[in-house]
Amino acid sequence: MSQRTRVLRVDPVSPEADAIAIAGRAIRAGGLVAFPTETVYGLGANALDEAAIAKIFAAKSRPASDPLIVHIARFEQLPQVAQAIPAGALELCRRFWPGPLTLVLKKAPRIPANLTASLNTVAVRMPNHEVALALLQAADVPIAAPSANLFSRPSPTCARHVIDDLADRVDVVLDGGNTPIGLESTIVSLVEDEPRILRPGGMSLESLREALPNLRYEPSYLADDVMAAPAPGAMLRHYSPRARVFLFSGADDAEVYAAMRAEIAAHERVGILASDTEAREFADSDVALERLGANADEAARHLFAALRSLDQQGVDCILARVPEKRGLGLALWDRLLRAAVGSLVEVQAAPGD
Ligand code: TXA
Ligand code: MG
Repeated sequence: MSQRTRVLRVDPVSPEADAIAIAGRAIRAGGLVAFPTETVYGLGANALDEAAIAKIFAAKSRPASDPLIVHIARFEQLPQVAQAIPAGALELCRRFWPGPLTLVLKKAPRIPANLTASLNTVAVRMPNHEVALALLQAADVPIAAPSANLFSRPSPTCARHVIDDLADRVDVVLDGGNTPIGLESTIVSLVEDEPRILRPGGMSLESLREALPNLRYEPSYLADDVMAAPAPGAMLRHYSPRARVFLFSGADDAEVYAAMRAEIAAHERVGILASDTEAREFADSDVALERLGANADEAARHLFAALRSLDQQGVDCILARVPEKRGLGLALWDRLLRAAVGSLVEVQAAPGD
């Protein structure tokens, strides 16, 4: 790593003031700071500084057509970022912020066009992480931050992932340990006739529907050749690891395991994203096993690190079972399907079962 990048350890609950001050100054000077949020690490720059925003796109090799999320620390900052905010939106903010909910609103004039990929809307959220909030307070400007990974790599859930992807391209990395949720925020558009989920994430559909009974969610997975289509974030290959991912669905455990064993036999080196149950099932198989844990919350926390680890181990393919689409399971399902580039292996129960 070059001498240019400063990696500063910070306590995730009460971050050290000197490290935060250094990072805050870097943001104000037009630099890039990677920092933990409750979802994943972000790659931050001053959201009001067009040149600083351009550096984010360059560092990530991110297409200019993919807009960024703006982070704020105080409700009073919202009018700097968005305008014509509906009363219902303010209620949502009060109920769910700080937290893993990003709202798409009409953009305020001060927000540079490159941040929103020239859209007249802007995505904004208040992260629920003391390091992110302290950095925002120190910088005293809204901070634009996509996930701090190279474009199309899994989002980073620890500082090591950020450094692996972006060493030399970022001024400061605030290392606050592992991110507590592990998947990105839920994005809700409030600029259409009815509120709509653009990306399932850390805030569950069920809890959002308590506040927004008419909240719509229609998964749309676009193939590569229609990547320029209107819904940003809906590109299928967004979360792809280097190895090919096979996603198995089916209610009959024995049949699904048999299908997975057939796939294991057909490849040189296979990785498995395994729940605790599957870890027991495949304990004696010659595979690289990454444990996701006992439930969706644990799996969310481990998924991106597991994908990176399997890539590093050089597996030819990665096998996983589809999660139940409840709670964080919906976001997990979305990320797995994207990683699998839509290829689902549907295992039917054998006749007579
Ligand atoms: O949890 C998160 O949201 C993390 C942390 C760092 O806050 N950030 C994150 O950012 O996941 P990123 O850039 O990796 O994903 C942002 C998504 C993109 O898919 C982008 O297309 C979408 O938000 N987005 C941004 N502005 C939008 C807009 N005006 N309309 C629709 N989608 C938008
Ligand atoms: Mg991202």
